[in-house]
Amino acid sequence: MVYNSGTGEYKGFILKEEVFDAEMPQKTESIMCLGNGYMGVRSSNEEYVKEDSRGTYVAGTFNFMEGDEATELPNVPDVTNMLFTVGEETVSPDGNMANYEKTLNFKNGLLRRYFEWTSKDGKRLHLEFLRVVSLKDFHLICSKVNVTALDDCEIGLKSGIEGNVMHCAHFEPCGMNAANDVLQITAVTKESGIPFSVMTCHRFEINGVKIEPDFGVTSEHDLQIMANLAFSLKAGNTLTITKISNVFTGRDKERDGCDMPALVADASAHMASVKGRTLEDILEESAAEWDRRVWSVRDVKVDCDKEEYQLAVRFALYHLTIMAPVHDNRMNIGAKGLSGPGYKGHTFWDTEIFMLPYFIFTCPEEARSLIEYRYNSIGAARENAKKKGFEGAMFPWESAWLTDGEITPDKYKTGLQEHHITADVAVGVYYYYIVTGDEEFMERCGYELLFDTAKFWSSRLEYNAEKDIYEILCVIGPDEYKEDIDNNAYTNYLAQYNLQLAIHYYEKLKADRPEVYERLNEALGLDSAYAIWCDRVDKIYLPRENEDGLVPQDDTYLTLIDISRDGYVFSEHPHEVHEEVWKLGGLNKVMISKQADVMQLMYMFEDLFSAEVKKKNFYFYERRCIHDSSLSLSTYSALAADLGEKDTAITLFGRAAMIDMGPVMWSSHAGIHAASLGGIWQCVVLGFGGVRRYGENLRIEPNLPDNWNEVSTNIVWKGQTLALTVKQDGFTVKNLTGTKEVSILHKGELIPVGEALEIKY
Ligand code: BGC
Repeated sequence: MVYNSGTGEYKGFILKEEVFDAEMPQKTESIMCLGNGYMGVRSSNEEYVKEDSRGTYVAGTFNFMEGDEATELPNVPDVTNMLFTVGEETVSPDGNMANYEKTLNFKNGLLRRYFEWTSKDGKRLHLEFLRVVSLKDFHLICSKVNVTALDDCEIGLKSGIEGNVMHCAHFEPCGMNAANDVLQITAVTKESGIPFSVMTCHRFEINGVKIEPDFGVTSEHDLQIMANLAFSLKAGNTLTITKISNVFTGRDKERDGCDMPALVADASAHMASVKGRTLEDILEESAAEWDRRVWSVRDVKVDCDKEEYQLAVRFALYHLTIMAPVHDNRMNIGAKGLSGPGYKGHTFWDTEIFMLPYFIFTCPEEARSLIEYRYNSIGAARENAKKKGFEGAMFPWESAWLTDGEITPDKYKTGLQEHHITADVAVGVYYYYIVTGDEEFMERCGYELLFDTAKFWSSRLEYNAEKDIYEILCVIGPDEYKEDIDNNAYTNYLAQYNLQLAIHYYEKLKADRPEVYERLNEALGLDSAYAIWCDRVDKIYLPRENEDGLVPQDDTYLTLIDISRDGYVFSEHPHEVHEEVWKLGGLNKVMISKQADVMQLMYMFEDLFSAEVKKKNFYFYERRCIHDSSLSLSTYSALAADLGEKDTAITLFGRAAMIDMGPVMWSSHAGIHAASLGGIWQCVVLGFGGVRRYGENLRIEPNLPDNWNEVSTNIVWKGQTLALTVKQDGFTVKNLTGTKEVSILHKGELIPVGEALEIKY
């Protein structure tokens, strides 16, 4: 990958692949994925190549396939395909090819691919492929291909809609249609019954002059419809193909539950209105939306010694935009966004703990939609609690449909034991509330979430009469290498925090908002719940540092076999480490962690332990953590920044930044790592920029790495957009909104920002 190929206004915005890897096309399919939050379209090459895993995923359209382990997002019939032939030979970059490049421009979402190709009998072509998925018109995909012949040649093209893609057995075909230049496939998901319509329309020009070739429509199976065309090109001629496609489903917010005829009518009307458009015009409109929603308001500018760091944070902003269905609060972000089949499109704690801070601080309305998804699924969370013998709302470790409850595949114990997710949801609500002050949201959804999650925890606690404490037994903490463990520190502290929040807001509402209190008390039985919370909250067992200054991750971690991680430390293949571990009896027997656990706690709750204890634990646990989860490095990096361990922070950040964008080809096969992208933003803005919600205040305490000159970005605090610029010798904050006074906490002092504030060290 090349990280510094953009110039002018695109400097720091372009990711480029210069060497085509026919064995691993999935890498760029994922990391150069296009999308808009409604759908994600993997950036597969137009022509099929070996190991191709093309995919189009529409948020929230889950379907359960007989025999599968859980509901998943179906892969929609593909419209990106275009197969060129010269004589009998297929044009493909794994043939006789030169000057290949594939680039994604984060600024406007344009995917471009170029290569020069020579057939076995010496016919030369130059091919340029352009593609965009509109950020403005969620249903619209546009491709444009310029094929320039350097020799006279006969070119064949097969292009259309292909439903024979991986994971396509979700669909029952309903019909296909070829009306003039428009092709259409309709299908319905077999179990969830969601109607889909996929349409595509081709336009052709030679040297800019429109031509109308014979379409030769064929179909080899029920989910395929193809145009088969032939063109005679003279040397020097350029054939241009514009392929405009749309995707509509019965799950779309505006047409929820509609039947197929209504869907087809909408899709057809849309196609009629867009089929005459050009790629340039669609791109311009979409780029303006990129600018409005992202680059003009929440870009993070990094001036430092390595260009890949600037690119990495924009890579994160780009993907966080295309993966998040923030237009529809019935949906949430999947662990791989909409960029691949990994984790089946399911939502985890990744949203609340890794991505939500970014949305809260940059676009609170988008954050609210993601939290409302949790609120909208509270009924299923209550059922889930009841089914497992608990009270209140128990949020599922993995979730998809609002009504699903727990949908973690049975083969994983996480669905049964990874309970911290319920407190993570509460933490997300509180974080949102403090940063925004959105009382309306709290009264409509937020307080109920805080109270019902607290009810879950008070029923989940187990009383140890001998010690007069409450414990939480048999869980999985963030470190998923350890199953069936007791008193995971992260879980216990967060459960207590959840109860403290509920107690605090119960008292506040009762005193200040009696009508709200009455309503919620009646619905949730708050008075009796409150008595239980108060009785138990201070008796929850909270692991503290031992005589060596170490905070035990759980009751047994520090008693396990301590193996040296040296030798495996930077292994790109965690399974090599695992082999060693199996010999010792398995992951539960060895002091080795998958990801940040105690460190996650220390990062999120900075006052629980002294700086000395945190530093000691940091190095202890980091040496025993193989960062086998992409959620790990960013937490360690941001915490290291907090601790003033700048070299460690930047080393870990460098690795976090390369999880998807880096040279390891297999790392992103099944999609990008959504949480790690939220983590990259956290490292730069919260870690190095030192921005933090601290209690109920906004604190700014930068920790800029030595080779970084400047970081600048905007953050939103209580409805005021603040422009922050951090340098080595100080920082400035400007209140761009200026309708409300904001103060920041710096070095323990609350300082009013006024119009602008400059702090020099
Ligand atoms: C991690 C979890 C994470 C999940 C989805 C797992 O490998 O251990 O913490 O939620 O992936 O990203």
